[in-house]
Amino acid sequence: MAKILVTGGAGYIGSHTCVELLTAGHDVVVIDNLSNSSAASLSRAEQLTQKKLSFIEGDIRDATVLDQLFQEHSIDAVIHFAGLKAVGESQQIPLRYFDNNIGGTICLIRAMQRAGVFKLVFSSSATVYDESNASPLNEDMPTGMPSNNYGYTKLIVEQMLEKLAAADDQWSIALLRYFNPVGAHKSGRIGEDPNGIPNNLMPYLTQVAVGRRQKLSIFGNDYDTPDGTGVRDYIHVVDLANAHLCALNHRLKTQGCRAWNIGTGNGISVKQIRDNFEKVNGVEIPFEYVPRREGDVATSFADNARAIAELGWQPQYGLADMLADSWNWQKQNPNGFNES
Ligand code: NAD
Ligand code: UD1
Repeated sequence: MAKILVTGGAGYIGSHTCVELLTAGHDVVVIDNLSNSSAASLSRAEQLTQKKLSFIEGDIRDATVLDQLFQEHSIDAVIHFAGLKAVGESQQIPLRYFDNNIGGTICLIRAMQRAGVFKLVFSSSATVYDESNASPLNEDMPTGMPSNNYGYTKLIVEQMLEKLAAADDQWSIALLRYFNPVGAHKSGRIGEDPNGIPNNLMPYLTQVAVGRRQKLSIFGNDYDTPDGTGVRDYIHVVDLANAHLCALNHRLKTQGCRAWNIGTGNGISVKQIRDNFEKVNGVEIPFEYVPRREGDVATSFADNARAIAELGWQPQYGLADMLADSWNWQKQNPNGFNES
């Protein structure tokens, strides 16, 4: 068993990963500045697992806090979720994204180096692939220039980490390229709780279902896809969390920097998501078609063969679980972690 530092562990994917780490018997230390999350997710993770984790409320850009953390805890590896992810905001305030996502990662890896910790799992995104690649996307396909500044920070950090590992073979780094994380823990106690109007499809849809929003706007029905709406690869957040444990096991034994796609390999359209959500959950989702959203591609889904072969990972959950679990979380927590 290992002691794992989870940056951004109070967030959506981080809190689900904490549950899986604790369940597997690992010791967990979380650093999170709570800029986009609530510490309630961590107490709920503890309740769910009947185990304790250590939480430091702090910023990964604060070298003093990081040095103290590494001195107090004998960390074996780091899973790095901390970062900002709002695509629209990244266009309006690019420097905030460069500082947090790129600057924050540099500060973190410097502190890791000082502490002699060289195992890292990084949250990357399918957005790093060049838009001209046809799906299924595999890891050998070229990366491109992402259409937004958020995606740009993911690409830069990937490239930086590759160069770091090439220059110093002590490093062992996993770049996990997530496709579209959805769903929630089966208990409905933790889940996605975005601030403001959700940018992503699933939280928007569940907020329509719970009555917080009137109807779903489907961005474009004139794509070159079977029903004209955008096709994506939705992956259950618990499957995604488990991919981090598999990557960790792999990286604890090997050197270098390598990318793995984390998706199911199935392309599902927006209309299919909306129709199946109604069917699986028995709730009505009013919708309208509106023009395409800038920066969207028609189709994006993964070739996940590398992760299955090399990480020993296998997604367990299908679309019905993703839709039922997203709804279960939202229904039980209509206002997210803000219970008032
Ligand atoms: P999230 O916002 O729920 O979690 C990120 C966490 O990091 C939050 O708890 C936030 O408070 C914390 N944080 C941000 N900046 C910090 C800083 N400087 N210091 C300390 N803590 C900080 O997001 P998520 O959906 O859980 O995503 C986790 C990671 O995965 C992010 O890096 C994100 O970019 C990446 N990712 C997410 C998706 C997605 O669709 N959710 C897709 C691809 C990649
Ligand atoms: C988006 C980001 C991507 C980021 C990812 C995870 C853009 C262009 N891309 O990916 O950079 O890594 O989120 O945070 O923002 N849709 C609707 N109505 C909605 C919301 C979405 O029809 O209200 C459609 C979109 O057009 C798309 C699909 O649903 O076809 C999924 O959208 P979304 O959940 O935002 O994910 P991505 O666009 O794949």
